[in-house]
Amino acid sequence: MKVGVVGLGTMGAGIAQVSVTGGHDTVGREVSMELAERGRATIERYLARAVEKGKLSGEKRDVALGRLTLTTEVSELAECDLVIEAIVEELGAKRELFAELDRITRPDAVLATNTSALSVTEIASATEHPERVVGMHFFNPAPVLPLVEIVRAERSSDDAVRIAYDWAERAGKQPVNCRDTPGFIVNRILIPLLNDCVRVLDEANVSAEDLDKALTNGAGWPMGPCALVDLVGIDVHVHASEALHAQLGEDRMAPPARLVRMQAEGRLGRKSGEGFYKY
Ligand SMILES: NC(=O)c1ccc[n+]([C@@H]2O[C@H](COP(=O)([O-])OP(=O)(O)OC[C@H]3O[C@@H](n4cnc5c(N)ncnc54)[C@H](O)[C@@H]3O)[C@@H](O)[C@H]2O)c1
Repeated sequence: MKVGVVGLGTMGAGIAQVSVTGGHDTVGREVSMELAERGRATIERYLARAVEKGKLSGEKRDVALGRLTLTTEVSELAECDLVIEAIVEELGAKRELFAELDRITRPDAVLATNTSALSVTEIASATEHPERVVGMHFFNPAPVLPLVEIVRAERSSDDAVRIAYDWAERAGKQPVNCRDTPGFIVNRILIPLLNDCVRVLDEANVSAEDLDKALTNGAGWPMGPCALVDLVGIDVHVHASEALHAQLGEDRMAPPARLVRMQAEGRLGRKSGEGFYKY
């Protein structure tokens, strides 16, 4: 299967890695060759680590990297059987891209979006063949976390859903099916829950360390909520909370004031060197 990945940022680079290690010739499209090369460098770094740990042979790494080609031209995705979009989270940009992909790819190619918070149905409605559009929601980091939510939009065909599901499964992922609803499965549950955790910090005057200690030891969480929000990124979590709140309107979905303050101060979690913890 020939695969296209559009956008090689945090998610796209990881998805392209899943694709090439899964045995697929993969075309990665970015807005500039510099950004495309940065995406490739991310994949090289990840695979080098896998070789160091003995999880991948040097030969397999070379074969996988050889399957990746980079481009800035959407037209180079014309031969793809599956295109996975992972560009900025903006409805207008995604609709424009899907309309273009719809024009240049074969009508039986499946077009997937990795959107976290937008409606897959609204993205699909920018195309003339919405039946071939689905959501494929990977989790960060995509090469590590097994889950992929396969999202059926209003007009997705059974074939498109099955092709996306089978592809993810063959690539070693754990796909699950769901309908196109705000937050899909995991974010619908996890975002308000993490917001509750953050509110408890102030309500019960608990330190981040103690809250994490409480949830790991009292509820069996593999990682405490403050450590998790730091890993996800305060800005990413606030944005996802705002989107879910705007769509479903439950108070607990709105970002807690503490997180909004941390975002304004640039304390974005691991990536900025400080969030609830210092890194
Ligand atoms: N970061 C996460 O934890 C996460 C998890 C699941 C899903 N998502 C979703 O994945 C998508 C990408 O998020 P990200 O965190 O990787 O963002 P990012 O900013 O790291 O990467 C986006 C990339 O897309 C590129 N881009 C923008 N417009 C483009 C276009 N028209 N064609 C090609 N490339 C283009 C940008 O140059 C950038 O490199 C978003 O829809 C986001 O909601 C993110």
